[in-house]
Amino acid sequence: MKSSKAILGAGILASMLMMSSSVLAQTVGFSQIGSESGWRAAETTLTQQQAKERGIDLKFADAQQKQENQIKALKSFIAQGVDAILLAPVVATGWDSVLEEAKEAEIPVILLDRMVDSSDDLYLTAVGSDLVHEGSVAGKWLVDELAGKDCNVVELQGTTGSSPAIDRKKGFEEAIAGHANIKLIRSQTGDFTRTKGKEVMESFLKAEDGGKNICALYAHNDDMAVGAIQAIKEAGLKPGEDILVVSIDAVPDIFQAMAAGEANATVELTPNMAGPAFDALAAYMKDGTMPPKFIQTESKLYTQADDPQAVYEQKKDLGY
Ligand code: AHR
Repeated sequence: MKSSKAILGAGILASMLMMSSSVLAQTVGFSQIGSESGWRAAETTLTQQQAKERGIDLKFADAQQKQENQIKALKSFIAQGVDAILLAPVVATGWDSVLEEAKEAEIPVILLDRMVDSSDDLYLTAVGSDLVHEGSVAGKWLVDELAGKDCNVVELQGTTGSSPAIDRKKGFEEAIAGHANIKLIRSQTGDFTRTKGKEVMESFLKAEDGGKNICALYAHNDDMAVGAIQAIKEAGLKPGEDILVVSIDAVPDIFQAMAAGEANATVELTPNMAGPAFDALAAYMKDGTMPPKFIQTESKLYTQADDPQAVYEQKKDLGY
């Protein structure tokens, strides 16, 4: 027979466990943009894995690139009374009203990988990279690589109105400013997709003497670069040699292209935004610890000198 002391001890332990689990997030809504790129697919996989490891019930909503679907998803998460919301916002503007609703309902919102132009008291924190810096790392790589040689650059932008499209353009332009040998001759959105990247690159090549007038491509993500590489090859030119290729994300496929000499450089963006987001949320829910408003992830440059085949092998099974 158990002593009354042992029963009391077990009771205290049980109520402590109940208390600690009641302050941790049990149910989190995740409004994802869609599946436009390999990077986005990896972010979705990792967020689901990270939630599972922490025993969180993740309610996933795929917005298929539409802000209106994201707003609907957020309203539905609020109505369901989730403990927190993860939001990867497709565009930067138009979030005030729904973020205010979440705030009124006392549901903390964490932004993943893209920023909004709302006041920062409408969200708990944002996890992401310095998007301007990413663009400037790519631009600086090109400046150094060219060493003063004249170069006409074409640019494939990300989704119009998204913070990475705005900031990666800005960072790149800042890096090449003052280098009169480098001219940005064409710039258009490729929506962060391979298909659109290829299509827009085909039109650039056509407009620029079959590509003879283009010396480098800057793509706001690797998927568009991979589509453009295909277009360059179909135009009878050698990507990576006739046209230098620099992009952002560091997905496995770009390392294969780099290993084949068809791409030159990429800036890494980690797809694990959810890990730091869930850690910040746990601390906040445990004792009110306020995270910094921006939790910055690293932006590492990879070039053909970094054994791209080996990096491909390391990354290929990580959910991209
Ligand atoms: O917001 C991050 C960007 O969105 C990634 O660079 C791109 O691949 C994605 O679709």
